[in-house]
Order: sequence, then C-alpha cells, then structure tokens
Amino acid sequence: MEPDESPVVNEARQLAEASLREAGDLAALERWHAAELGRSGRITLLLRRIGGLPADERPVFGASVNRAKTWLEAAHGARLEELREAALAAQLADQAIDVTLPGTRPPRGRLHPSTLILRRVYAVFADMGFQVYQSRDVETDAFNFELLNIPRHHPARDMQDTFYIDDDRLLRTHTSPGQIHAMRQYAPEPIRIILPGMCYRREQITARSEIQFHQVEGLAVDRGITMADLKGTIESFARRMFGAQRAVRFRASYFPFTEPSAEVDVECFLCDGRGCRVCKHTGWLEIMGCGMVHPVVLTNGGYDPAVFSGFAFGGGIERTAMQQRGITDIRHFWANDLRFLAQSQ
Ligand code: PHE
Repeated sequence: MEPDESPVVNEARQLAEASLREAGDLAALERWHAAELGRSGRITLLLRRIGGLPADERPVFGASVNRAKTWLEAAHGARLEELREAALAAQLADQAIDVTLPGTRPPRGRLHPSTLILRRVYAVFADMGFQVYQSRDVETDAFNFELLNIPRHHPARDMQDTFYIDDDRLLRTHTSPGQIHAMRQYAPEPIRIILPGMCYRREQITARSEIQFHQVEGLAVDRGITMADLKGTIESFARRMFGAQRAVRFRASYFPFTEPSAEVDVECFLCDGRGCRVCKHTGWLEIMGCGMVHPVVLTNGGYDPAVFSGFAFGGGIERTAMQQRGITDIRHFWANDLRFLAQSQ
C-alpha cells in the first residue's frame, strides 16, 4: 500500500478486502463484486465524490481510488480462481468412481454345439493328414447333381428334396459338390480333404428333421487307393470320436457318385450296443455314407480313373450331437434360444 493513500480509500479497501475473504462460494463472490466494484459499489461511489473535492486534491484522490480498484480486481480474480478449483474438486470428489470395484460382466458367449462337434472332427482328420476345404452354399444343378452322376430325371434325386433359386441354381443338398470343385482345383495332384458346410433340404420341419444341417464330407484321391483305406480311415475316425472300443460296421448301400457304396454304423455309445431308445433297440447308430469315388465322378473332376482312384464319405453332424448330448429336438439348433445355447461347453 502506498503511504500517501487517502485514508478514506484505505478504509474502503480494507472493508472490501475483509468481505472478500468471507465470500465462500461463486455466488457470494458475484454478490461481492457487485457490492464493491459494481456500478453503485462501494469503490465506484468513491469516484463520484471527486467532484466535491478541492481541485488540487482531485488527482491524488482519483489515483488512489483507481489503485484500490485495480488491487481489488486482482484480488477478486485470484479468489475466483480459488473458488472454481474448490468447486471442481468438490464435484470430482462427489462423482468419484472406485475403479477397484468389480465391474458388471457382459454375458459370455458359448460355442454352438455344432461348432464344437465340427472342431473335434477337424482335429481327428487333421491328425490323419486331411485339410479343411471350404466350398459354397449356392450351387448349380451341374455341381450338386449332374457332375456327381445324378442326371436330371434320375430317381436318386428324390432322396434329396431341393430348394431351387431358379431353374439352374439351388442351395446345396449335400457337401458332395465340393468334391468336384476340389478335384478340378487340384487335379492331377493327390487330394486328402474334408469339406464341412451347411446343407439345405426342402423338408417338413419336425423334431427329427430340419431344412438346414451341417455335413462333413471327406475325399481322398491318389494312385492305388483302395476300399481298405476307406475302411481304415473311417474306423480310426469313429474310434477317436466315439471311443476306442467302439465297433464299426459297413452296410452295402447305393449312392450314384460312389461304387461300391456303403453306409457306416457305429455301435451305440449310449447303451454300448445293448439296445436303447436312441438306437431304436438295434445297438447301432448310422453316422455316414461312403464309397469309392465313381469313375464318372473322377473323370468329371479331371482325374483319369485308369490311373487314379479315391474314396469319399459324408454325413450330418447334428444327429450325432443330439445323441451325445441327449438333445431330443433338432429344431433347437437354429432357434437361437439362449437357454439352449448357454448349456454347451
Ligand atoms: N452325399 C451323401 C448324402 O448326402 C453322403 C455321401 C457322401 C455318400 C460321400 C457317399 C460319399 O447323403
């Protein structure tokens, strides 16, 4: 403070300063500013007194008031800063989050029962040197039927009711058309692949049959492949999949794209072959169709049947999943009911 400050100004400034210290929040501070420095505030009113002073005292008094004003403005600014920081700190303390508290966990997804089976199948065949080959869901009539030795009016088409997209395109009714794609891609190299994928058939949906289901196809083509290779491969697969002691049997059957053809049964893993409801008291569960690749199909794939031979097999996986897990209605698989899906592990 200047020693020659006017006592009136000094007093006013001290009063203002004291009340500034009492302004405890931003609203009080605003009121303080109006009362001291506002249009009719204490300090502003001092300036109005100048007119009543003798002319020679006016400059000194005016300068004194202005110094007080500047000083108080600065003090106000500092207090404002202080109060804002305090307000922010209070707000932060109020909204504090305890980051050490356990969060709410989002529900955990599960693998679909079909995915779980597919993965086991891939693993077993991978150990035997089979690679996974992905084919397509939408096929032409040629790939789904004709190149597989099923001509247009062949009665074997009745085995697979078809969803047609137009006269020529359709949803594959089995994974076998993938055989032709793979052969055309790799001929004349040897092939050892499995082809997994969704298949579609125009059927009545019931507890036992769906219009969509997964199949896994297998295909091996090379020089000198025999039926013994087919049987050995499928027996190894069935033992890894269903238990080392499981018996496997081959029943003669018919498919246009294999010759000879067979159906594969595995000893019922629910009753160990003694007979139960699931195996309809036969002791056996059917798991796939198979056979030696038909010479016509080899030729369509680009292999010379005089030099090459091969075997193929294919079957659905949902039925197996149902038997293994006691699922009684196939419609659960694609109904997306979380109560069903959450059970799988
Ligand atoms: N594609 C046949 C079916 O859908 C299964 C099969 C595949 C049979 C390969 C023999 C060889 O039923």
